[in-house]
Amino acid sequence: MNTKLRYSQAVARLSGESSSVWSLHERAREKLAAGEDIILLSVGDPNLATLDSTIQHVVEALQQGRTHYSPGAGELSLRQTIAAIEARSANRPCSPNEILIFPGATHAIYSVMCCLLDPGDEVVIPEPMYIGYRGIFDIIGAKVVTVPLQVDAGFRLDIDRVKQAINSKTRVLFLNTPGNPAGNIIPGESLQELAAYCLERNIWIVCDEVYSMITFEQRHVSLRRAAAELANVITIDGLSKSHAMTGWRLGWTVAAEPITQKLLAFTSAVIFGCCQFVQDAARYALTNDEDYMAGIRDEYRKRRDYVCQRVMAIPGLHCQPPQAGMFVMVNVTQIATDGFAFADRLLASQGVSVLPGAGFGESTRGFVRLSLTLGVDELAPAMDRIEAFVLAGMTNPAN
Ligand SMILES: Cc1ncc(COP(=O)(O)O)c(C=O)c1O
Repeated sequence: MNTKLRYSQAVARLSGESSSVWSLHERAREKLAAGEDIILLSVGDPNLATLDSTIQHVVEALQQGRTHYSPGAGELSLRQTIAAIEARSANRPCSPNEILIFPGATHAIYSVMCCLLDPGDEVVIPEPMYIGYRGIFDIIGAKVVTVPLQVDAGFRLDIDRVKQAINSKTRVLFLNTPGNPAGNIIPGESLQELAAYCLERNIWIVCDEVYSMITFEQRHVSLRRAAAELANVITIDGLSKSHAMTGWRLGWTVAAEPITQKLLAFTSAVIFGCCQFVQDAARYALTNDEDYMAGIRDEYRKRRDYVCQRVMAIPGLHCQPPQAGMFVMVNVTQIATDGFAFADRLLASQGVSVLPGAGFGESTRGFVRLSLTLGVDELAPAMDRIEAFVLAGMTNPAN
């Protein structure tokens, strides 16, 4: 090895707790690959299949030669489709020129943040937050200022605490509603107040809404619907979760045209257009999804209800039913030192893989996250094993 070869500072910053949290999931995957009886509840990749007709549509697109470069902003027909959906959900006009297509929401978030933040700038984010954000801010060298959600009040966002965290170095307020991991929905009034508060201070407000379509009793309110003005507003959405299309890599941003133009300059440099046939599939999926979406919502609600009812029946475990999304946060503080100890021993002893809450933020160090990405039939043995593990005093029979 030539030790004089140097990596960038960005790469050097890419380490930390989130990678150790994922190491537990990786360990579970290795065990699974080695033939062990492992149930994976540690990742947000739905077990549901992409709609058959979407797959048929993409096959036809491929046969028709839709395999060439696509415009930097994305295919116009897809942007028109998304603009119409956004106009309906925000109840205000939306032009295709306000939409940009990305290979997944992750890249959309990365690109947006690269366009808004310089190293040392502060970004305010409620926590617990999605693990994937950390790496993006590490690459940029931005300082993440977290604001704890009110854990005991259904992970409610306290907007006074958000305002207190904002100072002269804050460039972006980054929200995620419905939230991963907590499945909390930020009410429209809070979004409206925060958007106005940020605009007065020349601060961007960016909202990741990738779980917007997986809601239960209460509907999602988009930041674009809530905000009185859109000059500082950017929203991000995608198909990974809503349409069980994680592997297709398709996401988008919605922002006023001048903002979209700046983003386009950036993405043209780093992406140079997304895959044509995937965009054809996305347009098809978004226009033929009414029954599918209703089915998905019912399915996740059924899974949520099942898991919450089982968790609450296990002595020492607690959870609050999430309002949205595909995860349940389980409080293990009564029986374990923290979520990591619980998850580590659960994997070793019962072969069930869950994610330690510390990966999402300090306030969920005493939690583990269970994914609702398996059907009730498969969740049942997972819950049986968790129950047996707790009742046996969290011991590892192998030790
Ligand atoms: C809140 C949140 N945003 C973004 C993503 C990533 O989305 P994509 O697959 O479109 O990159 C995830 C995936 O788990 C997520 O939970």
